[in-house]
Amino acid sequence: AEDGYELWLRYRPVQSAVDLPQRVVLYDESPTGRAAASELQRGLSAMTGRTVSIDSPVKRGIAMNEDPAEARKKQIVLSRNAQPDPTLGAEGYHIETGAVENHVLVTRISANRDIGLLYGAFAYLRQVQTGQPVRDTTDAPRLKLRLLNHWDNLDGTVERGYAGSSLWDWWRLPDLKSPRYVDYARANASIGINGTVLNNVNARAESLTSPYIVKAAALADTFRPYGIRVYLSVRFSAPIELGGLKTADPLDPAVRAWWKAKADEIYAQIPDFGGFLVKANSEGQPGPQDYHRTHADGANMLAAALGDRGTVMWRAFVYKGEVAEDRHKQAYNEFTPLDGTFAPNVLVQVKNGAIDFQPREPFHPLFGAMPKTPLMMEFQITKEYLGFATHLAYLGQYYEETLSADTFERGQKGRTVAQVISGMAGVANIGTDRNWSGSNFDQANWYAFGRLAWNPHASARDIATEWARMTFTTDARFVRPVVDMMMRSRETVADYMTPLGLHHLMATGHHYGPGPWVDNLSRPDWNPVYYHKADKDGIGFDRTAKGSGALSQYDPLAQAAWANPQSMDERYLLWFHHLSWDYKTRSGRPLWDELVLTYDRGARDAAALQDIWAKMQPYIDAERFEAVSANLRIQAREAKGWRDASIAYFQSKSGRALPAGVAPPD
Ligand code: GCU
Repeated sequence: AEDGYELWLRYRPVQSAVDLPQRVVLYDESPTGRAAASELQRGLSAMTGRTVSIDSPVKRGIAMNEDPAEARKKQIVLSRNAQPDPTLGAEGYHIETGAVENHVLVTRISANRDIGLLYGAFAYLRQVQTGQPVRDTTDAPRLKLRLLNHWDNLDGTVERGYAGSSLWDWWRLPDLKSPRYVDYARANASIGINGTVLNNVNARAESLTSPYIVKAAALADTFRPYGIRVYLSVRFSAPIELGGLKTADPLDPAVRAWWKAKADEIYAQIPDFGGFLVKANSEGQPGPQDYHRTHADGANMLAAALGDRGTVMWRAFVYKGEVAEDRHKQAYNEFTPLDGTFAPNVLVQVKNGAIDFQPREPFHPLFGAMPKTPLMMEFQITKEYLGFATHLAYLGQYYEETLSADTFERGQKGRTVAQVISGMAGVANIGTDRNWSGSNFDQANWYAFGRLAWNPHASARDIATEWARMTFTTDARFVRPVVDMMMRSRETVADYMTPLGLHHLMATGHHYGPGPWVDNLSRPDWNPVYYHKADKDGIGFDRTAKGSGALSQYDPLAQAAWANPQSMDERYLLWFHHLSWDYKTRSGRPLWDELVLTYDRGARDAAALQDIWAKMQPYIDAERFEAVSANLRIQAREAKGWRDASIAYFQSKSGRALPAGVAPPD
C-alpha cells in the first residue's frame, strides 16, 4: 500500500534499469560498509527488477574464474581510500564511473571512512531515483553537527508532535529493537543526519537513570552503523532529583562530581555518546541562574563532565515574564556578554528567530553577534505554528530564507547565517504514524532539513524537486506544478495567519487556530495582544529606537534593511514598526487595506491549492492523492477561518470599512 512508510526511499522501477549495476562489491566489511552495500542491493534490485548480489573481492575473484558471464556484470564498488583524501574529510565521498576492469564498467564509491561510503551509496541511489545520469560527484557536509531533536517524553507522548506517539518504545527497550529503528536510521542517513537527541528539552531527570541509559544504549547500537550518534536532553537539577544533593550549583564540587560520574556511566554503555542538550532557566526549567551563576558556568560544568568525548548544546531560548524587556531582546542580552567564555565543546543553540518559530521571523540577532562561540541553528521541522500536519507548508523555503540572510557579522558583508553556524538541529516531526510525519508533504520538511544541514547553501527549490521526484514521480507534469506549489506554500500560511510581519497570534496552548484577541494570560509576553499592539490608531510592534530598541541588536548594516518602513521588505513590516492604519504601503494602499487584502489573498491561495492538486491525480497513486486532498480541504476551510476571525478582530480595533470588493468575514 502507498501509505508513505517508505518516505523518499521508494526505489520504484526506473527506465535506466538495463544500464545499472547487478553486483555490489564491498571491499570493507564493517557494519557501516554492510549497511551501504545492503542499501545499494535493496535499491538496485527494486529499481531494476533483477537480482543484485553483494560480493567481497575475494569471493568475486573465485566467481569470475568460474563463470565469465558473472564477470561481465556491471559493478558498483565500495572501497575506502588507502590514502586519506583531505577534500573528503571524515564523512565525504567520491563517486566515479569509468574505470574498466575486465571489460566491464565500474562505478566506484570511495571515502576516507565507512560512513562516507554509506552517504555515497545514498547519493548514488538518489541520482538513479531522480532519473539523472550518474555523474562523477565529490561531496562532503559543510556542517559537522546535523541533528534531530526529538521532543519526546518518556511516557510516549511528543510535545508539539502531530504524527502519532514517540517512536521510542521505552517500555520494551532494550529487549525489543523494533525494525522501525533501522528504517529511521536509513532515512536519516540518506539525508546526512548524524545525531539524534532522543528526549524532550523539557527533560525529566529519569532519562538519566541507569535503566534509561541502557535503553538509550540499545537505540545507539541500532543507529551506530548509520553514522547516527545518540544525545540526551538533561534536566539541570538532576543531581538533586537523582543524586540526593542539596544543590545543582554548577560550581559546587559535589555537583560537578555527580555529572562527571553520570557521564562516565553513560560512556560505559554508549562509547560514542554525542552529548547533552540543555534547556535551562527557560519557561520554568531549572538552571544555573537559580544559583546566581551564568549560562556559561552551567554549560562549562557539563562540558567538563563530558570532556573531549562529547558536546554540550546549550539553548539560548530564554526569556522571563517578570521583566518588562521586549522578549525579542532577552536572549541576546543574556548571551552576548558571555561570548568567548564557553568551553570549546559547547555550542549555543539558537532558534531561527527571536520569538518562537513563527510563520515568518527575521533571523535571530545572536547570529553574527557571538563570533567567538560556535552556534547551532535550531529550526522546527514539526509545524507547531504553521498548521500542524494538516496545512501544507514547505519549510525548505523558510530554512533557505533564514540561512541566506546576511548577518553582517562585525560589519562584514556576506556573513550569512549559513556562514556563521557550526551545526543545525531540527525539532523532529516524526512519530508512529505510518507515514512518519503526519502527512505526505511533511516528509519533505524532514528531507529538506537534512539536505540543508548537509549543505546550508543548497537551493530549497532543487531540494523540493529532488524530493518530489523520489517521493512521487519523475513526470514533469507533476513535478513542476507541485514544486511551485510547495515553494509558495509557506508564504500562503504566513499570509492567512501572520501577514506583514505580525507574529504570535495563535490561540494559547495548542497554537493551532487564531487567537489575536487573547490578553488574559498570567504572563503578558504570552498574550497575542502584546505582539500586535493594535488599537484604533494603528498596529505593530515598534522595535526601533523609539520603541523596544530590539533592532539595534543587529549589525548596523543588517539594521538598515529593516529600519525604514518605506524601503523595507514589507513581509517584516509590523515586526519592527508600529504604524497608523493610514500608513501608505508600497502598493499605495493604506495599511488597513493592505492587511485585509493579505489575509484575503492567503485564504484564496490556500483554496487554490486544491485546484492545483486536483490536476495531479493522473500521476500518482489514489491513496496518497486522497490523503493530500483531504488535508487541502481542511486547510482551505481553516485558512478561511483564520482570515475571517482575524479581519473581524482587527476591524473591531481599527473601526474601518473593508476595502472594496473584499467579502465580509462570515
Ligand atoms: C515553544 C513550545 C514549547 C517548547 C518551547 C521550547 O515555546 O511551545 O512546547 O517547550 O518552545 O523550545 O523550549
